[in-house]
Amino acid sequence: MSKQFRIAPSILSANFAKLGQEITDVIASGADIIHFDVMDNHYVPNLTIGPLVCQAIRPLTEAIIDVHLMVKPVDRIIPDFAKAGANIITFHPEGSEHIDRSLSLVRDQGCKTGLVFNPATPLDYLDHVMDKIDMVLLMSVNPGFGGQKFIMQALEKLKLARAKIDAYTEKTGREIWLEIDGGVNVQNIADIARAGADTFVAGSALFGAGKDSDPHRYDTIVAELRAALAKV
Ligand code: DX5
Ligand code: ZN
Repeated sequence: MSKQFRIAPSILSANFAKLGQEITDVIASGADIIHFDVMDNHYVPNLTIGPLVCQAIRPLTEAIIDVHLMVKPVDRIIPDFAKAGANIITFHPEGSEHIDRSLSLVRDQGCKTGLVFNPATPLDYLDHVMDKIDMVLLMSVNPGFGGQKFIMQALEKLKLARAKIDAYTEKTGREIWLEIDGGVNVQNIADIARAGADTFVAGSALFGAGKDSDPHRYDTIVAELRAALAKV
């Protein structure tokens, strides 16, 4: 059975001086989703981009914008990202005092929802809110920075998450995506897919590739990622 796999470039590793062009180029290369990392120097020790940047890039692409909130608290900022054109908004359970309420808030704003699990965060948080979740995002690095090494333990966790999602889909008929984030590259993406992921964030592996001046630099790496996935 051939599965649908989605590639989600993390713009954290893009050239921010030419962000618009980077987005146009990476989508033209065949990537599916823009992964948008929001860090607040509080929940994670780094500071990145907010709703204004999301709003600025929204007219450049029809691709899904997948906003990964690494912020605490989350509720105040969720409506701002919805208005800025986000399609999916994910957050970490540790970033919300009331997870069910924050998920409802995302849905009420017309966006798809997701919960994000750090390497040591248990999947139990899913158990009572599956009906309110459209995507599960597993971190395969500790959040805060691009360019880190894939934590192998994430493969076992992916299998557990896959089993939970499959059992839920079997029961309800509703699909939930399983995204992996951190250290994904051409060498490991097939193993990650075999463990159960269907959506793959890639930051440094993609934006770190090739020469800045070559507009086709992303074509090769996206094709390599797809070729690796085709063997799964
Ligand atoms: C890390 C971010 C990731 C990161 C991925 O906190 O959530 O999305 O940008 O970058 P790579 O692919 O370089 O690990
Ligand atoms: Zn991310």
